[in-house]
Amino acid sequence: MTLRSVLLGTGSALPRRAVSNAELASQVDTSDEWIVERTGIRNRHIAGEGETTATLAIDASRAALAAAGIEGSTIDLIVLATATPDQTFPATATIVQDAIGANGGIAFDVAAVCSGFLYAMGVADSMLRTGMARRALVIGSETFTRILDWEDRTTCVLFGDGAGAVVLEAREGTEDGPGLIVTKLHADGAHNELLYVDGGPSTTGTVGHVRMRGREVFRHAVVNLATVLGEVLDHTGLTAEDIDWVVPHQANQRILDATAKKLGLPPEKVVVTVDRHANTSAASVPLALDTAVRDGRIKPGHLVMLEAMGGGFTWGACLIRM
Ligand code: UT7
Repeated sequence: MTLRSVLLGTGSALPRRAVSNAELASQVDTSDEWIVERTGIRNRHIAGEGETTATLAIDASRAALAAAGIEGSTIDLIVLATATPDQTFPATATIVQDAIGANGGIAFDVAAVCSGFLYAMGVADSMLRTGMARRALVIGSETFTRILDWEDRTTCVLFGDGAGAVVLEAREGTEDGPGLIVTKLHADGAHNELLYVDGGPSTTGTVGHVRMRGREVFRHAVVNLATVLGEVLDHTGLTAEDIDWVVPHQANQRILDATAKKLGLPPEKVVVTVDRHANTSAASVPLALDTAVRDGRIKPGHLVMLEAMGGGFTWGACLIRM
């Protein structure tokens, strides 16, 4: 028996306003046809007045706490992944902590853009298994549409806003019982210029806008994701057939298809929400996870692989027994 991080509940939140491709095409030089064919995106949610990364994270966290059947005051660790914090400091995690009444525990943000939730899971799992905390909220929350250049059609049609959260608890258990099995994380800072924001507190003193060389990112994403998924399988001695569900970062339907094909995973095992939510960066994996838990596809006992790739580059994968 060893300490394991067991997932007790999931939750998510979306801004009130949904924006279709057709609505976007009335303001940006694009078309529903181009967006659907190149990305699979049909809809995204865009944060409005009063909706921020923190408010979405709080709503997602409350849903996850309710699903877990526990009080916010029992949480002693909050790790929040975001690239769009409410303030440069303090961490958005501390705003969530105060809202759910978990004051006094550990709370901080991690910045790994679209892979942020995977990084947050890896950090939280390590802290739970070493006894630094007992109950964690791991959150991915973004208002990415606030850092888009709405004059740049190559990026502004791709992203949306939202949040997802999970509750993890340290419990004594065995390898074949519920809990996180392994997390593999990577970064390669040589590719900064392929996906970045052209501003920041220490350089321009502004927030900046997202810049991406999409075609190059696409190529790296397929290779890196297939490699890290292979690493997780090698580490555990499992094969693609053993996996019940893959919950990938939702950037592009074509990346999901290409990665699944490379691994020999049937498309029906891949949870897809990119059509409804677009790319919500760090929120996309927990949003998709919560969607598939709530609609009954992901059930207790299932083996679930989470994976993501984003700016940095950063990428990673995590295997969980539900
Ligand atoms: O979340 C982090 C990870 N991010 C990703 O994984 C994103 C990875 N990249 C992608 O998903 C794709 O590369 C994109 C969806 C961004 C672009 O698709 P693509 O098939 O690589 O298109 P492209 O960039 O090669 O552009 C093809 C054409 C260009 O026109 P020309 O030069 O061929 O005449 C673009 O100007 O499509 C044009 N285009 C558009 N047309 C209509 C670019 N954006 C748009 C648009 N509407 N919104």
